[in-house]
Amino acid sequence: MTDLANRTVLIAGATSTSGRVVARALLDAGARVIAVGSDQSRIEALEAELPGVVGERADLTDGDDVLELAMRVHARVGDVDGVVHLVGGWRGGGGIAGQTEEDYRVLERSFTALRYVSRAFWNDLVASPAGRIAIVSSTTVDRPTAGGANYTAIKAASESWMRSLAQGFGKAGDTAAAVTFRVQSLAGLEGRLAASVVDLWGTDAAELNGAVVELTA
Ligand SMILES: NC(=O)c1ccc[n+]([C@@H]2O[C@H](COP(=O)([O-])OP(=O)(O)OC[C@H]3O[C@@H](n4cnc5c(N)ncnc54)[C@H](OP(=O)(O)O)[C@@H]3O)[C@@H](O)[C@H]2O)c1
Repeated sequence: MTDLANRTVLIAGATSTSGRVVARALLDAGARVIAVGSDQSRIEALEAELPGVVGERADLTDGDDVLELAMRVHARVGDVDGVVHLVGGWRGGGGIAGQTEEDYRVLERSFTALRYVSRAFWNDLVASPAGRIAIVSSTTVDRPTAGGANYTAIKAASESWMRSLAQGFGKAGDTAAAVTFRVQSLAGLEGRLAASVVDLWGTDAAELNGAVVELTA
């Protein structure tokens, strides 16, 4: 099993089912885990469920909140080696005419959070001997539907951002990697996702950087 004894991993959006399963797997592998969510009570529940997790409340769609989060994390635990971005959400249906601005603005929060978080922890990831950042995208990026146009556009933008991070990592050296996981649905795949996240530290950055990995049952 991959040993993450000297690794600190921040989970951005950690209180969903997938976040909790990923947090447990990282802890079991020996990592220090920082769990971030926007709701204090859900963060406290996660800390109670998984002793050892360092909980932090922040609105990851607010740039100032993210900068303050980074300062607190650096003061509490130091630099991070990994970011697992799980802020998501789903809105859709109604064909192209049903792709409302309201739904788009809700979905866009996931991409906004990714941009803020990856910028705030970029220097950590580059400086780490094994920096890793991962998102969970959707198989619809390759097979879009009319009813999911807003959602898929945001996922495609997130994947594009990850390719930009990968290019930046490549320029900075050969120790960091940006990886996109794609799923059709996460339900039942949380364990697979968690194992794949832990494996990020068992694989060379050069092999991983810029990869898009589809997770299936
Ligand atoms: N579920 C699926 O079937 C599926 C399919 C394809 C892709 N994905 C992707 O997989 C990832 C994880 O999915 P999921 O279903 O576990 O995600 P989710 O239900 O959207 O969970 C999002 C997490 O982010 C936190 N969060 C939301 N807004 C936040 C904010 N402003 N600041 C900080 N934290 C925030 C939520 O906790 P709080 O509300 O407590 O803050 C929660 O812990 C997402 O990117 C999703 O798009 C999921």
